Amino acid sequence: MGDRPAFVVLEGGDACGKSTQAQILVARLQSLGREVVATREPGATPAGAKIRALVLGGGDLDPRAEALLIAADRAEHVAEVIRPALARGAVVVSDRYVPSSLAYQGVARGLGVEEVARLSEWATGGLDPDLVLVMDVDPAAAAGRRAGPEDRMEREPDSFRVAVNEAYRDLAGRFGWRLLDGSASVDDVAEQVWAAVRPLL
Ligand SMILES: Nc1ncnc2c1ncn2[C@@H]1O[C@H](COP(=O)(O)OP(=O)(O)OP(=O)(O)O)[C@@H](O)[C@H]1O
Ligand SMILES: [Mg+2]
Repeated sequence: MGDRPAFVVLEGGDACGKSTQAQILVARLQSLGREVVATREPGATPAGAKIRALVLGGGDLDPRAEALLIAADRAEHVAEVIRPALARGAVVVSDRYVPSSLAYQGVARGLGVEEVARLSEWATGGLDPDLVLVMDVDPAAAAGRRAGPEDRMEREPDSFRVAVNEAYRDLAGRFGWRLLDGSASVDDVAEQVWAAVRPLL
């Protein structure tokens, strides 16, 4: 195993298992002696934390304003966290990235996938992940897993979650994202994740 940098993104609707799998994947990579940067969107930087509070904590937000705030968070994230980590040869594991914007803002909010893809590409300076893993879980089942207070996205109606889930499925083929069966056990999903990540190392 060399020390090639790698950029892995975990995706999917609310409560699909992103944080759970990120933790397992990071531990596995570290046990191989790799430097791993575990990060997330929105909110991985000081400016991003303020943006996260606006996007997830607040009241009404125009969909375009929401898309632009998330793009601003991402620009800061790429510049301050992701690019420097990749330049050091680290493995970056990000909980959400551009695919979230395409599914949530592009499709579920109705802003259009092409436009949001253009905005995202500008925000990132064209930085694409090496691998995007989407944990596909029936939205009703995922909602049943959730505990704790709901954020602004989680307060959206069931129809929003269904639209997000379908968007991930529809866009996966077009953008080369890997769809995993996220309804399997935590260990099973972790094996699916590892099988996909290993060849990158
Ligand atoms: N494969 C699984 N089977 C059953 N429950 C799971 C599975 N993976 C995670 N969970 C549980 O579901 C809940 C949500 O998981 P997790 O926080 O990892 O999801 P998430 O995608 O990060 O959610 P969020 O979008 O809210 O950040 C947690 O209670 C977790 O323990
Ligand atoms: Mg999470």
